[in-house]
Amino acid sequence: MSPRSIGVVMNGVTGRMGYRQHLVRSVLAINEQGGVTLSDGSRVTLKPVLVGRSPEKLARLAAEHGIADWTTDLDAALADDGNLVYFDAQVTQARVKSVLKAIDAGKHIYAEKPTAETYEEALALAEAATARGVKNGVVQDKLFLPGLLKLKRLIDGGFFGRILSVRGEFGYWVFEGDWQAAQRPSWNYRAEDGGGIVLDMFPHWAYVLENLFGRVRSVYAQAVTHIPERVDEEGRTYPATADDAAYGVFELENGIVAQINSSWSVRVNRDELVEFQVDGTHGSAVAGLRDCRVQHRATTPKPVWNPDLPVTARFRDGWQEVPDNADFDNGFKIQWEMFVRHVIEDAPFPHDFASGARGVRLAELGLRSSAEGRRLPVEP
Ligand SMILES: NC(=O)c1ccc[n+]([C@@H]2O[C@H](COP(=O)([O-])OP(=O)(O)OC[C@H]3O[C@@H](n4cnc5c(N)ncnc54)[C@H](O)[C@@H]3O)[C@@H](O)[C@H]2O)c1
Repeated sequence: MSPRSIGVVMNGVTGRMGYRQHLVRSVLAINEQGGVTLSDGSRVTLKPVLVGRSPEKLARLAAEHGIADWTTDLDAALADDGNLVYFDAQVTQARVKSVLKAIDAGKHIYAEKPTAETYEEALALAEAATARGVKNGVVQDKLFLPGLLKLKRLIDGGFFGRILSVRGEFGYWVFEGDWQAAQRPSWNYRAEDGGGIVLDMFPHWAYVLENLFGRVRSVYAQAVTHIPERVDEEGRTYPATADDAAYGVFELENGIVAQINSSWSVRVNRDELVEFQVDGTHGSAVAGLRDCRVQHRATTPKPVWNPDLPVTARFRDGWQEVPDNADFDNGFKIQWEMFVRHVIEDAPFPHDFASGARGVRLAELGLRSSAEGRRLPVEP
């Protein structure tokens, strides 16, 4: 018989991701709906145990959400046999040490990306989890965005014919913090604190590309720090030592060329904060977070280059909206439910530490490619 409720140690829940997406929108939302439904129709609820460094913040969070357990003592939380799962959404730099402890304690592990700062450490985590026989998973939330689910539906339905290329544009202006507060934590802009857009975003691009189009076989990237100085949460000016934009070209195993710009120093002139244009022999699509538009070969206009004449065609009007045809739940929550089923009844969960490590490897190779100014192969 499966347990009705499992303890989940949640470390880093005072942070942006840990609080909003994982505690409130996933774990508490799952309990509000009555738990995770298993294959036999029974349900499992989650008993969060909040772990962090600040007793005041944890106590406040716990009281606000009616959560019984919180502690600043990770070892004590891991020693409790009722806690089956350890979840980590701390700053990236703090992840490896805590995850290794939790593996050692025999917990199943679910963690934010990147799983580590280096490929070596990310691989070591995957190996340690396998050796200890614990289930392991990494957050790959972008796959569950409605826009990307529609894109996957188009791929599975053969809409594109042969896919030629993918063009991704991600980013927005992150304020410098002087005359308007920055909307991201300052550690993101300090390399010494685990920051940088390559380490943040390339792990996402690795699993998006691998799950939708094919594994990456080579990378060329140019990582840049466009804004050299920023102001932190306390109003102190600091040197931005990490990259805040990365221009990457990825060659995939099947010859598809993916080019993805990631930037915190770009002003948005798009419909969404991330957009992917996919061009295939039979059709093209532009997918964002929520929406997806397509143009079939049969409705493709035939523009002729002539700079002497004003443009009269309204190119964007020639695209069609892909209908929802489904209800889309929060992507973080969907993945939590998948992981819980994986833990309790061994349901498939492809988003493991090995795939997390491939994401960290792509970031590492991207930074190296940028430093050396050359394209680097990515081993199969
Ligand atoms: N899946 C996604 O789309 C996504 C988006 C943003 C961030 N992330 C990842 O989530 C993690 C957290 O990012 P965030 O934006 O929530 O950051 P954040 O700064 O808002 O939160 C970080 C958390 O870690 C704790 N922390 C800070 N310094 C620490 C230290 N030295 N030791 C231990 N704990 C410390 C904080 O108290 C807080 O709970 C990062 O690894 C980041 O890469 C993922």
